[in-house]
Amino acid sequence: MKRILSGMQPTSQLHLGNYLGALKNWVSFQEEKDAECLYCVVDLHAITVPYDPKVLKRATLEIAAAYIASGIDPKKSTIFVQSAVPEHSQLMWLLGTMAQMGKLQRMTQFKDKAGKNAERAGLGLFAYPVLMAADILIYKATHVPVGEDQKQHLELARDIASTFNTRFGVDFFPQPEPVITGPAPRVMSLRDGTSKMSKSDPSDMSRINLTDDADTILKKIRKAKTDSEALPEKLSDLDNRPEALNLITLYAALSNESKEDSLKRFSGKTFSEFKPEFAELVIESFAPITNNMNKLMKDTESIEKILNSGAEKAQEMAAPVLAEVHRIMGLSRL
Ligand code: TYM
Repeated sequence: MKRILSGMQPTSQLHLGNYLGALKNWVSFQEEKDAECLYCVVDLHAITVPYDPKVLKRATLEIAAAYIASGIDPKKSTIFVQSAVPEHSQLMWLLGTMAQMGKLQRMTQFKDKAGKNAERAGLGLFAYPVLMAADILIYKATHVPVGEDQKQHLELARDIASTFNTRFGVDFFPQPEPVITGPAPRVMSLRDGTSKMSKSDPSDMSRINLTDDADTILKKIRKAKTDSEALPEKLSDLDNRPEALNLITLYAALSNESKEDSLKRFSGKTFSEFKPEFAELVIESFAPITNNMNKLMKDTESIEKILNSGAEKAQEMAAPVLAEVHRIMGLSRL
């Protein structure tokens, strides 16, 4: 039996990168017979950067709504909020005693987010990957579907799991397998084909959000950075054209065809011909999700109910694992 766990931060709206890099793959796992899926909204990770508590609460519900609207079925998967299952943070402390500072310092996400002021960064931002390891290991998850940017964090989680097993001479934590698949594991910014599409990019024009309306999507795609050349016949001819490659990759991912086939459709055409068709495809793909999300957000009580029962189920799985970790580590439970 596979146990799948993944999560997203409720820092702001989800974008095309979150959807194609992760969420779409989560939905497919749910259909596998031998897979038990847990999907959480990682609010404790979102507070490692400055935030507004009121906005966080709403964003947490919105992310849960986005999961459901994208096809995560609460009857098939356990959907919950990370902070509602305190075992995550309890395990984090224990794992923190085994996580090496040197390795944490090498995490690129920490370096990016802390910027030049690393001395002033909070401990939470530094320890972020240890909490992520705890999210995974508290359920003894075997598979973690994520986008490519989370690869380094996953490696650390695997490292912590084996350090624990070696340190205490047990075979307790499995090695969680990163699942970085799908046609678009690294979606790039619409403004710069060499940097990833990200919630933290100050320019909203750099990403397409799940909640953008048709006009906004059209405008963002029209303004997306491209070059003046026509689209070539061969994919290898896009090697030095990162923006063009990104748009073709996205077109292919959304239309469920290969990049080669998508390129064939447009070969010889310019971006002014490609862009309206691409925009139409994005609008068509997102409209049912956005409509569903809007409907769900009109009844936040129902979302809360789903999250509460998800948290109960998750806690039933997490509590015995934490108890066993205590026993292995020689901690008393009075
Ligand atoms: P977060 O919230 O930044 O992103 C959520 C998911 O979206 C993927 N993603 C992308 N995929 C492709 N292209 C992009 N441009 C892009 N941007 C984001 C991310 O890889 C991720 O899968 N640390 C995690 C959240 C987390 C987690 C966990 C994940 C906390 N605990 C345990 C898995 C298991 C994060 O910041 O994701």
